Amino acid sequence: MQQDLRLWLRQTAEKGELVTLRGVHWRVEIGAVADLVGKQADSPALLFDDIPDYPKGYRVLVNALGTPGRVAHAGGLPAELPTLEVVAEWKRRYGSLQLVPHHTGSAGPILDCRQEGNQVDLYRFPSPQWRAGDGGRYIGTGTLCVTRDPETGAANVGTARVMVHDARHVFYRVSSGKDSRRHFEAWQRAGRAMPIAICCGQHPSLLIVGGLNIPYGTCEYDVWGGLAGEPLETVQTPLHGLPVPAHAELVLEGEVLCDQLAAEGPFGEWSGYYSREARQEPLIRVQAVHHREQPIILGVGTARPPSELMTFWSIFRSALLWDQLEKAGVGPIRGVWCHPAAGTRLFIVVALEQRHPGHARQSLMAAAALPAGAYMGRYLVAVDADIDPTNIDDVLWAMSTRSDPARDVDLIRGAWGGPLDPAVGAEGGGLNSRMLIDACRPFGAAASHFRVAGYSDEERARARTLWAAAHKERAK
Ligand SMILES: Cc1cc2nc3c(=O)[nH]c(=O)nc-3n(C[C@H](O)[C@H](O)[C@H](O)COP(=O)(O)O)c2cc1C
Repeated sequence: MQQDLRLWLRQTAEKGELVTLRGVHWRVEIGAVADLVGKQADSPALLFDDIPDYPKGYRVLVNALGTPGRVAHAGGLPAELPTLEVVAEWKRRYGSLQLVPHHTGSAGPILDCRQEGNQVDLYRFPSPQWRAGDGGRYIGTGTLCVTRDPETGAANVGTARVMVHDARHVFYRVSSGKDSRRHFEAWQRAGRAMPIAICCGQHPSLLIVGGLNIPYGTCEYDVWGGLAGEPLETVQTPLHGLPVPAHAELVLEGEVLCDQLAAEGPFGEWSGYYSREARQEPLIRVQAVHHREQPIILGVGTARPPSELMTFWSIFRSALLWDQLEKAGVGPIRGVWCHPAAGTRLFIVVALEQRHPGHARQSLMAAAALPAGAYMGRYLVAVDADIDPTNIDDVLWAMSTRSDPARDVDLIRGAWGGPLDPAVGAEGGGLNSRMLIDACRPFGAAASHFRVAGYSDEERARARTLWAAAHKERAK
């Protein structure tokens, strides 16, 4: 897998999948164009240059992982693989993952330019205000926030939004329970400011690990190395010695002031809603900025799905849950799909080969409880192996023809939700419910029981040949 965003840009441009736009304003316009284009099938990556108020070359890249093909390519897979096969390949890589420690060197393009102390001016960079309703400009959406456990020294890398407060301060906004939040709470208990490095631009493949719940204590860079089969090249930040990718574009180095709060947000969330108004969050004093010449901010559109975020999150969350189901002994699982239109969390489909009575219900209960599926779920559907879980038409067909609500639907109450849940809100006390829908045929149903009216693989292959020949004939 590549490590340098600029190489990725060249290759993406050569494939005709990169469009450069000039003169688009950082206030709302970048966000609105990204949203418009990102919702179209096969949408290109968008590189904004000549942004009003900014010198040429200070760029914002959006929609880098906006199509399943580019997500596949970021992982070194053929871009034309069907989505379920991309998920299966990631599941295979997670399943057999051996960590490859990152390699810390002494040099890298990220150390090319540096401003420190009073020289720091965050308004030198074209941070977008994504929507008019957002509370400010977000220099970070596709970030890597690097912190250390104060007791063990272990580094954690997590993706979180980062809003500019003023020329030398940004915000740290991470939900409770996240590894990085645990670090913050530990530094707070010790009464010390927490050192942090925030990478605001880097190769998009690093978002694969930044946005996933990797077990506490495991460094996400080493997971990336395991997935890539080669170590990530890193350098240590000069002030706090935190590891950042050597080819990163822009890094803010500073400390989280555990006792200084100010108003952050609101920000359009992954669900497509604002969950609440501005909130008091800890401030980060930026002590130094490191960047390449003409740095590129990596932005991720997070608005109402479908969105870039959901395009890549659906693939990685599905792969992780599939792996966890198999490791829990629930298989054979033939596919998992965390549907992007439902924010990946709220509609999960598991396709399985039924092996015993109750197997479909078991897979649903497990998917609702395993780490990759437990938080903020809603609807879970089990389908037979002949259904492609990524094909919503197939799934709706199975649900509406194979499940009988009185027999096949169960509710789980008091499940792990949260204040971001737009159906429940903060009044829910952090709880919501799950609907388990068993859309599989009854286990052991006779082969003659409502046989599917369709075609064999051979018949379909023959039809494809006949159709291709007819096509050629028409083209003559
Ligand atoms: C583009 C993007 C933006 C995200 N923004 C946030 C955020 O602002 N706050 C948050 O708590 N999680 C956010 N997440 C989810 C976290 O990255 C995810 O939960 C991750 O597991 C956190 O890592 P950690 O547990 O190692 O801290 C975001 C994920 C992505 C991909």
